[in-house]
Amino acid sequence: MMGVCSNSIHLLFHLLLLLGCLHLETIKPTSGNEDRNVGCAEKDRKALLEFKEDLNDSSGWLSSWVGEDCCSWRGVGCIKKTGRVMKLDLRNSLCNNEEGYNGVSYERPCLSGKINPSLLHLEHLNYLDLSMNNFKGISIPDFIGSLENLKYLNLSNAYFAGKIPPHLGNLSRLHYLDLHGQSYSGDFSRIYADNLKWLSGLSSLKYLDMGDVNLSQVGADWLQSFNMLPPSLSELHLPACRLDSLPLSLPFVNFSSLLVLDLSHNLFQSSMPLWLFNISSSLANLHLSNNYLSGSIPDAFADMTSLQELDLSYNDEMGGEIPRTLGTLCNLKRLDLSKNRITGEITKFVNSLSGCTNSSLEMLDLGINQLSGYLPDSIGHLKKLRFLRLNRNSFWGSIPTSIGSLSFLKELDLSVNHMNGTIPKSVGQLSELVFLDLSYNSWEGIISEVHFLNLMRLKEIDISLTSPMKSLIFNARNDWIPPFSLKSIWTDNVQMSPSFPAWLQTQKELNEISLNNVGISDTIPDWFWKLHDIRYLDLSNNKIRGRLPTWMNFSNAEEVQLSSNLFSGPIPVNIGQIMPRLIDLELVGNTLNGKIPYSIGEIKGLTVLCLSNNNLTGRIPSSMGSLRSLGVVLLNNNNLDGELPSSLRNCTELNAIDLGENRFSGMVPKWIGESWLSLSILRLHSNLFSGNIPRRLCQLSNLHILDLANNSLSGFVPQCLGNLTALVSGVSNGYALDNKHIHVNAKGQELEYSSSRIFLVESIDLSSNNLTGEIPEEIMSLLKLGTLNLSINSLTGKIPEKIGNLKMLETLDLSFNQLSGLIPQSLSSLSFLSHLNLSHNNLSGEIPSGNQLQTLNDASIYEGNPALCGPPLVAKCPGYEASQGPSSIGDDGENKDGQLDGSEMLWFYASMALGFIVGFWGVCGTLLIKKTWRHAYYRFLDDMKDRLFVVLAMNVAPVHFKRKM
Ligand SMILES: *[C@@H]1O[C@H](CO)[C@@H](O)[C@H](O)[C@H]1NC(C)=O
Ligand SMILES: *[C@@H]1O[C@H](CO)[C@@H](O)[C@H](O)[C@H]1NC(C)=O
Ligand SMILES: *[C@@H]1O[C@H](CO)[C@@H](O)[C@H](O)[C@H]1NC(C)=O
Ligand SMILES: *[C@@H]1O[C@H](CO)[C@@H](O)[C@H](O)[C@H]1NC(C)=O
Repeated sequence: MMGVCSNSIHLLFHLLLLLGCLHLETIKPTSGNEDRNVGCAEKDRKALLEFKEDLNDSSGWLSSWVGEDCCSWRGVGCIKKTGRVMKLDLRNSLCNNEEGYNGVSYERPCLSGKINPSLLHLEHLNYLDLSMNNFKGISIPDFIGSLENLKYLNLSNAYFAGKIPPHLGNLSRLHYLDLHGQSYSGDFSRIYADNLKWLSGLSSLKYLDMGDVNLSQVGADWLQSFNMLPPSLSELHLPACRLDSLPLSLPFVNFSSLLVLDLSHNLFQSSMPLWLFNISSSLANLHLSNNYLSGSIPDAFADMTSLQELDLSYNDEMGGEIPRTLGTLCNLKRLDLSKNRITGEITKFVNSLSGCTNSSLEMLDLGINQLSGYLPDSIGHLKKLRFLRLNRNSFWGSIPTSIGSLSFLKELDLSVNHMNGTIPKSVGQLSELVFLDLSYNSWEGIISEVHFLNLMRLKEIDISLTSPMKSLIFNARNDWIPPFSLKSIWTDNVQMSPSFPAWLQTQKELNEISLNNVGISDTIPDWFWKLHDIRYLDLSNNKIRGRLPTWMNFSNAEEVQLSSNLFSGPIPVNIGQIMPRLIDLELVGNTLNGKIPYSIGEIKGLTVLCLSNNNLTGRIPSSMGSLRSLGVVLLNNNNLDGELPSSLRNCTELNAIDLGENRFSGMVPKWIGESWLSLSILRLHSNLFSGNIPRRLCQLSNLHILDLANNSLSGFVPQCLGNLTALVSGVSNGYALDNKHIHVNAKGQELEYSSSRIFLVESIDLSSNNLTGEIPEEIMSLLKLGTLNLSINSLTGKIPEKIGNLKMLETLDLSFNQLSGLIPQSLSSLSFLSHLNLSHNNLSGEIPSGNQLQTLNDASIYEGNPALCGPPLVAKCPGYEASQGPSSIGDDGENKDGQLDGSEMLWFYASMALGFIVGFWGVCGTLLIKKTWRHAYYRFLDDMKDRLFVVLAMNVAPVHFKRKM
């Protein structure tokens, strides 16, 4: 044994490195072919061969395991003097488990198979690493607990499953134990433990990682078990262990040498207990991100002060004396509390941190919480800070000027807060800054060249504002030569100069440019069209004029958004060649003319195509049928004509299509109901379609919006519309639209509004056609329907008695038909009904009253039905008592004009809250679509990756689809 120890200095050296939190990807095997090489011990050679025998090594990873000298085999290390194997390092970083875990089976160089107990013959083995292989869900063998000389054991990310053998508790010499599971375990269950008593046998342990091991069964005293580990423990990693209770106190704390504690990605819901901050004076890294921790940080500290007599009222401006500080906190290097539910202000907390004589803090991540208040000036005392992330909270005010003293700062993220002050010039002193994100705030004042004075290393900047009001002005001379070379610039809603920013030409590495609504009123200079590294470009909402040149070179562009400008002329005929990688093309609201180029069919990855509100002519090119990824097509409000090409049947991924306000003609194709099975929005409003409504449309089980209004359709309203299941059960899938404006058709008027509400739209609009026959009873089973508009047709028969089933109905328009009979009393039970029009029919009898109908006492709802009687009409029903009538009706009549506006507004607000028919989509907006979207980060949409979730999320907490995390 002594021999092993004296000969393992090399190994110990590695251990020390590892204890310093380094992952050594490759540890060179100590091969024995130096001077006094005695070759490998025959006993060990045999054991290794036996071990290899049971492994499946299809890629030949162990092909060097032949011949006599096992000490020279891959991954084998020996004690030189004796030739005994002391190390087996089969960590296999080429084995890419995560990719292809879901069924894609191509050969990767992973070891699999069984682990032969012959390893027990390697009596001197003290280092065993089988990590990053794929053992396909076998258990960790019990016998590993008998390898009593092990100091280093790494079984992480190797697709072991089942229970961790308690036998591992026999490894009393173990320093390093890594059992980290894999986050995507695919077909295999996770590794788990149901008790942790065995941990107490690991009396030499310094490093323990049990990340992704399911510890949900170990009980609430899990922490006590870890607390039994020896005081030598310096790192404890327990992320994603499904732990749900964080004890509020610990009777004793054994973690006196702990440097790193990682409890992130668990299920803790309590407030942050004090012992966490008090756990060890050496604690340098504390990770608590991705839990559900609540309460405020100062709460924790307030308690701590009483324990330690710390003065938290320390005020930076007092200068001079620095109060006694929390030794614990002064040693912290990395504190990650992000993605929790922490509330309150951070002033006291930062004050106490900055009170350290020599704060070590390098990373402070409080992002994605519910913190508020000012950023304290004392933040400038955290001199070693490199990463400061306060994004997605509710902070307000300015950035303290003292920020300029953070001379090591690399990353500053204040995005998505309520910051409403100015950005200090001192930001320009942050000479190490690489990443600056101040976006989605309400900054005021001016940002100028001075703000960038020393930002030599800056690569990404985002100063986009939340509101389109442009409260921040970006002032830079056209001949400015910035000190940086950016990859990414976002300045949405910031006022820039009316001329195109010429200084951008100095930026040679740009691949993301977003200058949406920045007040540019100019043409685009030639050099700009040739930025072939651009991947993301958004110049929407400016006044940029000129044509889109055929010689442009956006050969790497994935998203190009030039909507709401003054671009004219045709879409380049060669678009398929100049932008072959497009995923998203948005040219809405310009004055483009000419045809949709045939070459568009060459952009195979195209997912979103928005060309609405232009003056495009001609037919839809049949080549579009080869765009298999198309999810959204908005071509409304152009001059397109002809029939829909049948090749579009191939676009089976289509979720939303708006062809409204064109001159398309022919029958509504039957194949729509067979091929576009994912369709949730079908809008053909205001075209020249004729013939019957095809029954097959009823097969669109995801349909939420069906708008065939204002065409020349004839025949019956299909009964089978009652089978549109999405309209029965509500949301099944959809989109998140980052729309700024939605246009709504109502009462022939068009309203434009933006809303911070997410709302759902469920509607059928077949108005202004030549439909005949009765309103099918079956439609009354569409329980989620919000809008039913069948007006301006030739429908006959009665209003179905069961109309009262449509509990979600907000708008019902049956005007200008030939409906007859009584108005069903059940109408009065529709409590969301805010827009009703039954005028110009042959309805008769007394108008029902009560409940919701009470609020809709507008005579114009019922006018043009000579046989109707009772309020709000003037005509009295037989037996109606004259004394009650005229005066109240008169009042209503008098107010009518004034009230129309009022009720219109009422309706308008109700719609904002509850949703309404989308008339047409003024702005295409960025859509969240499928996995292909590289930056689809949106916490609450996380789980819907391959579904489109249609929620018209306008101005919702900024959908900022780019980058990071
Ligand atoms: C910023 O917002 C806060 C909180 O709403 C408010 O009290 C403060 O006056 C605002 N400051 C400025 C400069 O608008
Ligand atoms: C649209 O194009 C048509 C035919 O090319 C033309 O007559 C019309 O004036 C154009 N409309 C606008 C608004 O430019
Ligand atoms: C549509 O798919 C069919 C069958 O797969 C194929 O024959 C046809 O060429 C496709 N059309 C286009 C335009 O890609
Ligand atoms: C609606 O669906 C049901 C059950 O799938 C079916 O029996 C019925 O025929 C359908 N109705 C119509 C009108 O297609």
